[in-house]
Amino acid sequence: MVGLGPRRQPSRKGSMADMPRDLLQEIKRLEDLFTVDTTKLKAISDHFVSELAKGLSKEGGSIPMNPTWCMGFPTGHETGTFLALDMGGTNLRVCEIRLPEEVGEFDIIQSKYRMPEELKTGTADELWGYIADCLQQFIEYHHEGEKLDQLPLGFTFSYPATQDYIDHGVLQRWTKGFDIDGVEGKDVVPPFTEALAERGVPIKLTALINDTTGTLIASSYTDSEMRIGCIFGTGCNAAYMEHCGDIPKLEHMKLDPKQEIAINCEWGAFDNEHKILPRTQYDIIVDKDSPRPGQQAFEKMIAGLYLGELFRLVLVDLHENTNVKIFEGQDISSLKKAYSLDASFLSDIENDPFENLQETHDKFHSQLKIQCKKPELELIRRLAELIGTRSARLSACGVAAICKKKGYKTAHVGADGSVFNKYPHFKVSLLLTISTPVVGASTLTNDVHCRPAVHKP
Ligand code: GLC
Repeated sequence: MVGLGPRRQPSRKGSMADMPRDLLQEIKRLEDLFTVDTTKLKAISDHFVSELAKGLSKEGGSIPMNPTWCMGFPTGHETGTFLALDMGGTNLRVCEIRLPEEVGEFDIIQSKYRMPEELKTGTADELWGYIADCLQQFIEYHHEGEKLDQLPLGFTFSYPATQDYIDHGVLQRWTKGFDIDGVEGKDVVPPFTEALAERGVPIKLTALINDTTGTLIASSYTDSEMRIGCIFGTGCNAAYMEHCGDIPKLEHMKLDPKQEIAINCEWGAFDNEHKILPRTQYDIIVDKDSPRPGQQAFEKMIAGLYLGELFRLVLVDLHENTNVKIFEGQDISSLKKAYSLDASFLSDIENDPFENLQETHDKFHSQLKIQCKKPELELIRRLAELIGTRSARLSACGVAAICKKKGYKTAHVGADGSVFNKYPHFKVSLLLTISTPVVGASTLTNDVHCRPAVHKP
């Protein structure tokens, strides 16, 4: 297990010494805008607790709290060979996992395929056809010439789905910028299995699961203290185990009240009614210009897909609309392209090791054709920190809320996703916030032991 104790971020005080007054004032304004203080964080996590409960009630709420029919944790004694398909925003991953007799052990073969950008807004047939093609390639590559029975497949479908059974799922709505007609409101399994059957691929879908549920279950396979699975990536969400007796909306099914079932929270929809989150003018633009305005309010303030966009919107505003006029006299047409900066752009700025922010300077020049002056670079760095820190601190409210709801004093949280894995400052801020008595106490582990893929040359 990887234990990550909270470590304070290095202080960068002093680097603002030669900053012109108006820029300093602008930085102060941005600090006020993007800083969420501990009183507010506490209020947010308290409200979050009641919204989690509302999602489980018969009336329902903004947070869907989807029952996944994944009943309880694995024991570690499971055996067999299974396929897993993960349809992410950037890549499609196919894995073959072998669970041997030894408790908690596993071997994995993995192949990655690019998820073409056009697919996200194309047709449903193109989407299912492409995925089936990738699975076919995987089978042909790794099982050439073998006579196979139907291989069982777990499909990680990382979007909100209503499930009456573990191998069905009606897409509630697309999130994370996907916008494919004719899929919402329908079971995604039949068209997917048809595409496989058309190609004669020997695979049987046995489970449709969310990435957060997958993280929770996979992490608990090797850690019996695992309580929550979280994704901090293109999107942001969590899953945890709830007792059937504490889920009023399942009351009519007369399930054993002590039986546990994984709940996919879909917490990205927290505060869609805008009661508590401190949205800025930039958050409002991100929402308005998205394919689904009014949805995923929380996710749009914290997830990787939106962090670079928020940062970009502030910079364009500072160039065009304020007294400060950063990048004065320069052509900022590259910066004006929506979604041209991803979250790694921000983490690279935060990780620039040079006092004079040379790497940030070069990045702006090469990627955006903008020459930054030293004070502008300082502002840029501070803005990247503010947006990343806000994301981590708000995310911590969700983790704390689940812990509070369940009465966990300590808990292991399995975390995955590009923002968590590639953004060191995000991890630190998240941990610092969770471990303050204000929002709760838990231990965060990044505990999915992924063995190196065995790829044939
Ligand atoms: C979005 C999806 C959710 C997923 C999360 C992380 O919030 O709606 O299902 O778990 O992104 O990928």
